[in-house]
Amino acid sequence: MADLTRYEHPIKKLGQGKLMYIQSFGCQMNERDSESLAGMLEDLGYSPTDTQEKADIIVLNTCCVRETAESKVFGLLGRLRKLKVAKPDLILAVCGCMPQQEDAAKRIRHSFPFVDLIFGTHNIHELPRMIHQVQENHEAILEVWATEKGISENVPVRRKDKLKAWVTIMYGCNNFCTYCIVPYVRGRERSRQPEEIVNEITELVQEGYKEVTLLGQNVNSYGKDFTNKYRFADLLLDLEKIEGLERIRFMTSHPRDFDQRLIDVIASAKKVCEHYHLPAQAGSNRILKLMNRGYTREHYLELISKIKRAVPNASITADLMVGFPGETEEDFEDTLDLVKQVRYDSAFTFVYNIRSGTPAAKMEQVPEEVKSKRIQKLIELQGHISLENNQMEEGRVLEVLVEGETKTNPDLLAGRTRTNKLVVFKGAKDLIGKLVAIKIIKGRPNLLEGELEPNGAIV
Ligand code: SAM
Ligand code: SF4
Ligand code: F3S
Repeated sequence: MADLTRYEHPIKKLGQGKLMYIQSFGCQMNERDSESLAGMLEDLGYSPTDTQEKADIIVLNTCCVRETAESKVFGLLGRLRKLKVAKPDLILAVCGCMPQQEDAAKRIRHSFPFVDLIFGTHNIHELPRMIHQVQENHEAILEVWATEKGISENVPVRRKDKLKAWVTIMYGCNNFCTYCIVPYVRGRERSRQPEEIVNEITELVQEGYKEVTLLGQNVNSYGKDFTNKYRFADLLLDLEKIEGLERIRFMTSHPRDFDQRLIDVIASAKKVCEHYHLPAQAGSNRILKLMNRGYTREHYLELISKIKRAVPNASITADLMVGFPGETEEDFEDTLDLVKQVRYDSAFTFVYNIRSGTPAAKMEQVPEEVKSKRIQKLIELQGHISLENNQMEEGRVLEVLVEGETKTNPDLLAGRTRTNKLVVFKGAKDLIGKLVAIKIIKGRPNLLEGELEPNGAIV
């Protein structure tokens, strides 16, 4: 069981009257961490700003899953140099997954010596103490804990959304897929205690939240570090009992660990939404083995069939990768074929990118031009399927949680179906935050256009 390190509320309001700017570069867990960074800074007295120039503290919460994520941070740091020269009291902090790699931490320190504070993923809760130290000693700090020291509960949080909340249920990853840096920068799997999660979500519902997304790199292995038999399916059943909570989502599921008990629970649980994000990565058994994914194509397809039998209107989405070392044209065809068989509603598609320190970095690489042709073909195929699946929704009446006005047209409202599809429709602003019935009129590649049902009934 993971140890707890309690967050200590700061006594000094170091940020009173000052402004904070926080930018996330990574996955949902990274975004959720940024909400904790914002919570701690708010606790110190800081208020948010959308403008870097106005900020008294800028925090870059970084990602290193692919090179592009790292380049963005280096680019931004280059541009922030001027700001720091013009405003020497500005505190510039870089944290998250990137500094967790020794080389990257050193590179930030040497190439951008004006950065005041560098810390990793394991000591986020120490932010108030570190800011205090920077202000007192006028010296830059580099503090990265090499390994995790349990879970830090009680950290204040400032959430971005008022309706939907991210709730981290476990940290770290034990899977060591051969291409992936995450286990090296996030440490081993640690599950939060069920009581802490239930209490957090109960409080969220009291504050008016309707939907939660449970986060973990592999939520299906939740509880495997407990000494008792409490697992992810038990957590879902406990959360199902929270009155006032409308929707439960979770990500990411690992296809290897999605067992029959979980399928039975998702089929019976009313609040668990019918959307399952099941990254396949590849369709070729040879590549899956080289990736150390722990399942075969046949296992994956059988899992999808079982889920669809148990939850007939299930929406399946995935992460898919092209150009893993040694991927032949035949292997790639297997991925295309898998996509045709599953008919995903949507997919995040990635080009394999070398991450130093991972086993795949030493394998024989696929030329860039081959990868680029493959990704285009994959995106095109998935695009057709997404559109066809969305067109199949035409005429159906679906439950939509109304999230707000659309970004481009204030006359249109936007919300999501239980299957996580974006729906836009005309409606009064007082529908925001409510569950409504929408008749789908038109399926587009990335969204559904609909009309509010006059009687509000779902059929
Ligand atoms: N834990 C999740 C899982 O196993 O599906 C995913 C976590 S990872 C942050 C999100 C996605 O990034 C992965 O599913 C994978 O497709 C992609 N990814 C990870 N390492 C990559 C690499 N070296 N190059 C390209 N894509 C990568
Ligand atoms: Fe990376 Fe694999 Fe862990 Fe996902 S399961 S975070 S892809 S190592
Ligand atoms: Fe997430 Fe990127 Fe870290 S994907 S776990 S922020 S390396």
